[in-house]
Amino acid sequence: MMSYLCKNQKSEIMAELLQKVQDETRQGEAYAPFKDELNVFDKKFYIESYGCQMNFSDSEIVASILHEQGFGATRNFEEADLILLNTCSIREKAEQTVRNRLHAFRKVKDNNPGMLIGVLGCMAERLKAKFLEEEKLVDIVVGPDAYRSLPGLITEAEGGQKSVNVLLSRDETYADISPVRLDSNGVTAFVSIMRGCNNMCTFCVVPFTRGRERSRDAESIVNECQNLFDRGFREVTLLGQNVDSYYFTATTGENVNFADLLEKVALISPLLRIRFSTSHPKDITDDVLHTMAKHHNICKYIHLPVQSGNTRILQLMNRTYTREWYLSKVKRIREIMPDCGLSTDVISGFCTETEDDHQDTLSVMENSRFDMAYMFSYSERPGTLAARRYEDDITEDVKKRRLTEIINLQNAHSRESYKNDIGKTFEVLIEGNSKKSDKDWSGRNSQNKMVVFPKNNMPLKKGDYVQVNITSATSATLLGEMV
Ligand code: SAH
Ligand code: SF4
Ligand code: F3S
Repeated sequence: MMSYLCKNQKSEIMAELLQKVQDETRQGEAYAPFKDELNVFDKKFYIESYGCQMNFSDSEIVASILHEQGFGATRNFEEADLILLNTCSIREKAEQTVRNRLHAFRKVKDNNPGMLIGVLGCMAERLKAKFLEEEKLVDIVVGPDAYRSLPGLITEAEGGQKSVNVLLSRDETYADISPVRLDSNGVTAFVSIMRGCNNMCTFCVVPFTRGRERSRDAESIVNECQNLFDRGFREVTLLGQNVDSYYFTATTGENVNFADLLEKVALISPLLRIRFSTSHPKDITDDVLHTMAKHHNICKYIHLPVQSGNTRILQLMNRTYTREWYLSKVKRIREIMPDCGLSTDVISGFCTETEDDHQDTLSVMENSRFDMAYMFSYSERPGTLAARRYEDDITEDVKKRRLTEIINLQNAHSRESYKNDIGKTFEVLIEGNSKKSDKDWSGRNSQNKMVVFPKNNMPLKKGDYVQVNITSATSATLLGEMV
């Protein structure tokens, strides 16, 4: 039986759906519009990003492309003409999160049939047109190198046609597109310096979803950082899957490697902090470490994914370094920068991993004493070299138990690392109010640790640097007092 709902009933249903969808948002982040721009645009888009910082950075490029087309961003998806999900394929669970999210939007779209739903990013690239068959409510599928074609794809979709562009490129870097910083704290920003990845780590889907590695024009990177600094930003994070292999030859013939690029950005201003991610143990050079040590404003923090502490497993993963090589890199970092913060990524239960191999991972952690780590159990990804070559032979229970051991050990190391900072004084860049109280500031030290301290009615603001003496610590935050 067909029934019509009155306006109140409709808005009640909408409110309920809104709550449900919001409840289901955990990793996703919606971008807020610049308030004064809200009325300038004819149409509104809503975007959520999943996965790595690169995806969040890409969403800012997409926002810029859509702004040009008269779309303003909204944080409220129920008023959007276009909902976009920028997706991640790195693990099975990341894809499941996106699918759940799409199902939550289904009901919202039923109430607003004109609304378009687009899927961007790595899952779009991996599944291509198959996405349209698997998830009927999706109208647009766009891969990471095809965002410039979004306006045309939206027009097609508005005409009722499903549209797809998942072409990968060898040279697209979006160098000329000025990203729209929508949900920014106005202090820290991501700047993409390269795209794709030429490493073929056997577990990893990224080379398939992001294509060949290419470096962005160094001048456009420096200009973007300068522009951010001029607008009041005080920290840039240079992004790439393997920043140490950055290499760009300018039209002048000048060759710029990653150490050169770091230096160029560091020279913009001593007040602009520089971070970067991710470093690959096989490629990080002494040159980079010395450049970091030379410039106060290049943060003393390196994210150096180890993945496993066992050389045989590292070989199966095609990481192209050994356990000893990794440990010697850690030693080198500590020699050149004794105060450098260090974090890592670890995978438990890769194909054929024995208990002894797992113990090697724990012992590499003991040796390296990471301040922080991202830890995962192996998730086989269709199409990867590991999926084609090796059997995913470690049971979920074993993967989980090993992961728990890894997490417990890391928690102990993190607690110790944070406790060791008590009594030290750090320079902290204020990023905003602390999550818990607007009477406290929060920001990070050079080593990337979050520091929270009372405002004490001092005339300070976001983007200011302050010296903070650490008085206590949890395993993820330092607490202190300004000095
Ligand atoms: N380019 C970065 C990592 C990008 S992916 C690097 O080379 O270090 C981020 C992390 O996800 C990886 O470091 C790895 O630890 C994890 N990861 C990637 N593929 C995975 C998989 N199939 N299963 C579990 N974890 C995975
Ligand atoms: Fe994946 Fe390896 Fe490339 Fe990192 S370096 S993105 S883990 S293939
Ligand atoms: Fe995920 Fe793609 Fe990044 S697979 S981790 S969003 S490069």
